[in-house]
Order: sequence, then C-alpha cells, then structure tokens
Amino acid sequence: MTAEGTTAPDATGDASPESDDIIISIQDVSRRYGDLAALDDVSLSIRRGEWVSIVGPSGSGKSTLMNIIGCMDSPTEGIVLLEGDRLDKMGEPELAAVRRNKIGLVFQQFHLVQHLNAVENVELAQYYHSLPDENEALEALARVGMAERATHLPRELSGGEQQRVCVARALINHPDIILADEPTGNLDEANEKIVIDFFHTLHDAGTTLIVVTHDAEVAAQGDRQIILEHGRVAREIGGSEDSHTTKKRPAKAAEETISE
Ligand SMILES: Nc1ncnc2c1ncn2[C@@H]1O[C@H](COP(=O)(O)OP(=O)(O)O)[C@@H](O)[C@H]1O
Ligand SMILES: [Mg+2]
Repeated sequence: MTAEGTTAPDATGDASPESDDIIISIQDVSRRYGDLAALDDVSLSIRRGEWVSIVGPSGSGKSTLMNIIGCMDSPTEGIVLLEGDRLDKMGEPELAAVRRNKIGLVFQQFHLVQHLNAVENVELAQYYHSLPDENEALEALARVGMAERATHLPRELSGGEQQRVCVARALINHPDIILADEPTGNLDEANEKIVIDFFHTLHDAGTTLIVVTHDAEVAAQGDRQIILEHGRVAREIGGSEDSHTTKKRPAKAAEETISE
C-alpha cells in the first residue's frame, strides 16, 4: 500500500495522473450468454473515490457490468481486478466474501423484507455481515434522515423513504464501493434529490460510487460518464482532462446527516 496518509479527493474533483489509485480495473471483459454478448470486450478502470455514472439504452449491458463488479456474476472472458484481486478467478465463496467486505448495493427495486420494519431490515443486513449492532443500524438510518421512521414497515414508507432505508442498509459494512443500479428510478424529484445529495456526502468522504442511471441530470453528478451501447463502451464524458467542467451541485458544507 502507498503511504499517502489522508487520501480525500480534492475539492475540484481533479485527479492528476500521478495520484491515480485504481480501485477497479476491467480488461477485455466479455460476458456471453450463448451467442449474445451482454458485455463485449470492455476495458475500463475506476479510480478510488471516483463517482462514475454508467449510462446507455436498455439492454446495453449496464446491469451485467454492475453484477460483475459487485461480485454477483463472473465474466466469460477477461480480467477483473478489484483492489488488485482477480475477481474473474474467484469462485462463489471468495466472491461472497469480497461482496460482504467491500461492496454496498442499492437497487431500483428496493428489495426490503416486507414484514420487517426499517431498522430490522438494516439489522438483517448486519446479520448477513455478522455485524449485529442495533445502535449502529439506527445511526445508519439517522444518516439518511430516517431515524423517526425506524419502526415503520416498508408499506408504511414512501418510495423515497424505502430507498433511504436501502442506502442505510448498503452502508452497514462501511463499503469502499457503492454500486447503485437505477437508484432514483422509482423516486419523485424531492426524494431523488435527497438520495443524490447523500451520494455527494459519501463521495466527499472518499467512497467510490458507480451509479447506473437513465436520468441525464443524475448522470451529470458523476465525475465521469461511461456510455455503453451493445455491450461495448461507446464513449465517455468527463474524466481527468475535463472533470472540473462536469456539472456538480452547488458547493455546500458536507453534511453528516440528512434532515427530515
Ligand atoms: N441471465 C441472462 N441470460 C440471458 N441473457 C441475459 C441475461 N442477463 C442479461 N442478458 C442479456 O444481456 C443484455 C444486457 O443486459 P443488461 O446488462 O441487463 O442490460 P441493461 O442493464 O443495460 O438494460 C440484454 O440483451 C439481456 O437480455
Ligand atoms: Mg439493467
């Protein structure tokens, strides 16, 4: 490991080439289903602390890419490195361990257990991670402005509130990487803003964010946009040369919590 000490990204979002610390490297990756290549010879890398938006039409391979980075699927060809470890060589038990230790997942469909209340849903994730701690579960809910709703069942929560529970759940293992597949797809504008603002808080704290979205405004929040078409990287917007021209929300103090 490098002796960098504090590695918080600088305020401009610039990453000079010499400060590059690649957290994910994908080299010539394909994922085939019979004759269909869901991913077709994709190469890309993602820097630690970077916020990357993955954009592209339906069927272009976005979820397949997320599943491979999130240790839920393996490529049929190519190399996938996560913090230097070869995911493409790992079997399910090893992948499960990486997933547990390093990845936080947020989905469009919230996947909350309907008969458990908000804090119990977060605790279930803790149980899965062998980290049961009710106070920490409540704290995670408080960070997303859901402390007051902790004992409500999913059906008693709005879509936006349910997604905030999901974000709290994704934070429980203190992941290096948050993978979010259409996290605002089912949200109204107000809740979309709450979730995106919280992603900015995580980004400011150094978390690597990879966000699949159809929403141009959400995509523009990232440091870089990778556009997939037909399982290939069609183009990129942003990146090291012009990342400071990427649209960002107005500067504001990084908040630890979201007020309700
Ligand atoms: N389990 C699977 N079996 C067969 N084909 C699949 C499977 N998963 C995805 N695909 C196909 O791979 C392509 C990419 O899918 P996906 O990654 O889900 O796209 P996106 O998320 O961009 O909509 C699509 O043509 C899809 O039908
Ligand atoms: Mg998808």
